[in-house]
Order: sequence, then structure tokens, then C-alpha cells
Amino acid sequence: MEVVSLSKSYRVAILGATGAVGTELLELLQSRKFPLAELKLLASPRSADRIMPFGNENLPVVAVGEHSFDNVDIVLASAGGSTSKEWAPKAVEAGAVVIDNSSAFRMDTHVPLVIPEVNPDAAASHRGIIANPNCTTILMAVAVWPLHRVQPVKRMVVATYQSASGAGARAMEEVKQQALAILQGETPKTEIFPYPLAFNLFTHNTKLNELGYCEEEMKMVNETRKIFGAPNLRITATCVRVPVLRAHSEAINLEFEEAFSVEKALQILSKAPGIRIVEDWQANYFPMPCEASGKDEVLVGRIRQDISNPGGLELWLSGDQIRKGAALNAVQIAELLVAKSWVQSATAAVTA
Ligand code: A2P
Repeated sequence: MEVVSLSKSYRVAILGATGAVGTELLELLQSRKFPLAELKLLASPRSADRIMPFGNENLPVVAVGEHSFDNVDIVLASAGGSTSKEWAPKAVEAGAVVIDNSSAFRMDTHVPLVIPEVNPDAAASHRGIIANPNCTTILMAVAVWPLHRVQPVKRMVVATYQSASGAGARAMEEVKQQALAILQGETPKTEIFPYPLAFNLFTHNTKLNELGYCEEEMKMVNETRKIFGAPNLRITATCVRVPVLRAHSEAINLEFEEAFSVEKALQILSKAPGIRIVEDWQANYFPMPCEASGKDEVLVGRIRQDISNPGGLELWLSGDQIRKGAALNAVQIAELLVAKSWVQSATAAVTA
């Protein structure tokens, strides 16, 4: 007897469709052939009536409103924390699963924080919202998890080199305009960033806590612990914004209980999902943000023994903040939900 495949398709809404991540979400749904029954593009009233191309179609952008989530199965939200706080619960109430790119729900104990290469099973217990981790956390976790699961990391020290894209499409434009202004001998204007970023850098400008750590640094600490299921993992971070348009880089120092050889680390990372090793020691060629931009994989290289610590390893990575650091991870979560039939929340399934 012939087996007929009853493959399902899903009604998807993108909240924040006009932004840097939203635009990439559209491209990924198209290029990865996500099983779409319908695609709704939502943004602020500023973008109402805008038209965005999707394959051969032109889709209207609609201002998010009370009935935006009626008859929607999956919401991919990337419109900032306050927008998510306002609309995600309403979308869940309307019956959708929200994959949220903001920090609004990440540390909520009932909200799984998911990187499909690291903790896919966490998504099973969702109650309507699944959080996409912070971009620097995703890139670091994809590179460190394959080592950590073989031999637990005792302590991590990370320094980030974060591109303008992390602050959105308008921030990327601001850096370009600043560069043009400086080259013409003019004073660069600042609107999104507090200081000029072109030809400059500054430590991440999120709010500082009483210990002197900014929010971005604490996200790396707390989110990595939650994702790895390692609440006591020792992590410290220094986050820096650099004048790169797209793709973040990170210098990571890992300390293990016992020595972890470079050869073993390289062997593990070469086979790990979502990673491409980029190393040519003769040519002094290692991951660069210009080569990570637009790529799905996190580029990892310069894996070397820490000369100050026999149980330590150093590594360097570059990864596209908009793709794996945000949009790609969210689409991968949506694909995971579809593959595992987890689109309906566990709570809804139980109470249905
Ligand atoms: P809009 O273009 O209408 O302002 P980015 O991260 O690149 O800055 O993009 C942010 C995205 O979030 C944009 O699509 C933006 O829409 C959307 N957005 C921002 N504020 C709101 C809001 N209050 N309601 C709905 N969408 C919003």
C-alpha cells in the first residue's frame, strides 16, 4: 500500500518583520522551505502599508493589534523586550507558540531557553513561549557545549567584539553615516548609540549593576548557565561594541578540571553541529566577522593551550549575529517544534 505523507503546514507571523532580524527571518523561512500555510508580517504603525518581498510575492506589513494573532500557529518575535512583553502573552492566549528573540522571558523558569544544537529537548516543556538566547550567548554556547559535554568546563572568561547589527538596522545605518561624516571631516551624529562607533569602540552600553557588570555581560553568564543546566558554572565576560557592521567575535578562555588537549578539542569541534573550523596557522588566518557575515555556521579557530594554565584552552570565534545569533536560531527552533509536533504547548496539550 502506498504511504501518503500528511505533511502539515503552519500559519506564521513575524512580529518586527521590518527590522534587521525580521528581514532575515523572512529570507530564512523562504530559503529553508519552512512549511508555511500563511505568513503575516507585523511591525509598528510606522511601517503599516509597507510591502516586503517574499519569494515571488509581495506581502503587506500590518501594524500589530488586538486580532493580529488570531489563527496563527507560530509567532517569531523580534521587536524588542517591551513589545514582546505586551504582545507575546496575547499571542499565546490566542493559541500560538511564540519564539521570542527579546530578553523579556529568557530567565523565566517556565520559559525554555533553547539552542537546537545544545538543548533541543528543553523546548518540549514550553507553555507557549520559547526564548531565543542573547546573540553572544548563542555563539559562545554553540562552540563551548561540545567540549563541555565531554569534559565539564570549570571556568570561562570571555571578551566580545560585537558588531552594530546587535542594536538593529538603524544602528547599522548610523555607523555607516558616522564613517562617511568622519571621512568628510565632519562631526559624526549619534542617535542609537551613545558615542560614535565608527573608527571607535566602547564597552557595551547596557545598564551596569552594582558589581560593575553590564546587562549584556550578565546575560552571557545567566543564560549560559540556564542553557547548559549548570547553575554554578563560573563565567565572567567583558562585552565591547566594535565598528563592524555585522557578525560578532569572541575570545574565549576555558578552564577544565583536567587538561584538554588541543588535538582532542579540534577533533570534537570539527564534528560538532553548527561549527566550521577556520584555522591556517601558517597564514595567520582565523575567523573574521567579514567572512562570518551571512553564514549559518559559527566560525571557530585559534584553538590553543593556555600557556598560563595547563588545564586551559583559548579559542576565537566569529558568528553572524543576525543569523545564528538571532533569526536562524529562531527558525531552527520553529523547525524543531514542527519536527517533534511540539507546536501546541505542553500545557495546552494536557488541558485540551
Ligand atoms: P518598525 O520598522 O515599524 O519600527 P531592529 O531591531 O532592526 O531595530 O527592528 C525592530 C523591529 O521591531 C522593527 O520591525 C520595528 O518596526 C519593530 N517594532 C519596534 N517597536 C515596535 C512596536 N511598538 N510594535 C510593533 N513592532 C515594533
